[in-house]
Amino acid sequence: MRNSIVKEDLARIHEGLGEKRAALAGNSVVITGCAGFLGFYITQYFTRYASELGIPKVVALDTFLLEKPEWLSRLGEEFPDILEIRTFDIAKDDLTEIPGVADAGYVVHGASIASPTFYRKYPVETIDANIWGLRHILDLYRGRQSLKGLLFFSSSEIYGDPDKDSIPTGEEYRGNVSCHGPRACYDESKRFGETMCWVYAQQYEMPVTIARPFNNYGPGMRLGDKRLPADFAKAVIDDRDLIILSDGTPTRTFCYVSDAVTGYLLCLLHGRYDYFNIGIEKPEIMVRELAEIYRAAGAETFGYSGQVHYEQSEDPAYLADNPNRRCPVIAKARQELGYAPSVLVEEGVRRYLQFLKEEMKS
Ligand SMILES: NC(=O)c1ccc[n+]([C@@H]2O[C@H](COP(=O)([O-])OP(=O)(O)OC[C@H]3O[C@@H](n4cnc5c(N)ncnc54)[C@H](O)[C@@H]3O)[C@@H](O)[C@H]2O)c1
Repeated sequence: MRNSIVKEDLARIHEGLGEKRAALAGNSVVITGCAGFLGFYITQYFTRYASELGIPKVVALDTFLLEKPEWLSRLGEEFPDILEIRTFDIAKDDLTEIPGVADAGYVVHGASIASPTFYRKYPVETIDANIWGLRHILDLYRGRQSLKGLLFFSSSEIYGDPDKDSIPTGEEYRGNVSCHGPRACYDESKRFGETMCWVYAQQYEMPVTIARPFNNYGPGMRLGDKRLPADFAKAVIDDRDLIILSDGTPTRTFCYVSDAVTGYLLCLLHGRYDYFNIGIEKPEIMVRELAEIYRAAGAETFGYSGQVHYEQSEDPAYLADNPNRRCPVIAKARQELGYAPSVLVEEGVRRYLQFLKEEMKS
């Protein structure tokens, strides 16, 4: 592995799972959405650590709707006996046609475009991945004793725009979400996906665990992804000014990808029905503060000297239903999963930019 940041992050993930990772031994893993941002770490972790973990096979599925990334092809060439990569639409194609998939011990359902710009471009595909895709998986694995854990990626977006008394937001908050509008294809399909998980867990005693990610960022996020951390990183690399398409006051907590992926894999290994917020609870910062963090890290890593500018998006619906504050309570995951995120946003942004610098050199 060429990139020192990825190498260190995978080692942190491995360490973060502690003794729980022993449960993976002897089990194959299926990952949908393997080519995405989170797939970058999840697919690499299971593949690169397969022999240490005792994983015989990793089946990685994706439509490659946005792109087939080079890192994934290279990984497949490096581990031809472990990693099987297939162009596959989880909403339409037949899982039973892939040998060994039905007997997998662990399944990660990450397929679903996560960037608002792109899920708005592909709203039907987004619904399909979260509804039909999930349903296909639940139907295939129900009643199978070989299944030890199934992870469904929901989203913090299921909370919508919480009232101020419900921020920070815990798992029992029921949400303030619109079933119409530009974000509804994503938010509501995640909500109904969770309902399906609940129903199948009750009816068929399936070991389904739901993760609700809160704003992840870092290596693996495509520079053209159009989520804010990627936009800022791209501006730094191109030596352009940082553009904010709001007044810069909405707040978020930004969770670095190695922390988040450790949380997701702890969810997968939980092996029974439950749902967890996965993110970091501090610091909750304004978008304009994030821009300053990129400016400082950019200056350090690339000698960057750009400024922050405020503009209006040409898209009138750009900010529609955009939550003003987003901040999780993660006490449940801390207590029940042993989840303990530790990378603060300044360090995470430095790592992301350092990763990109190393990639540019290689
Ligand atoms: N990254 C975050 O901060 C975040 C936040 C909330 C939720 N999530 C959820 O986590 C999961 C992974 O997120 P990400 O950031 O890696 O997303 P991403 O958009 O980077 O990647 C998603 C991948 O899923 C694939 N895909 C889409 N539809 C598919 C289908 N029908 N069949 C097979 N593959 C399909 C896409 O081609 C893409 O490679 C998603 O379910 C997302 O909704 C992520």
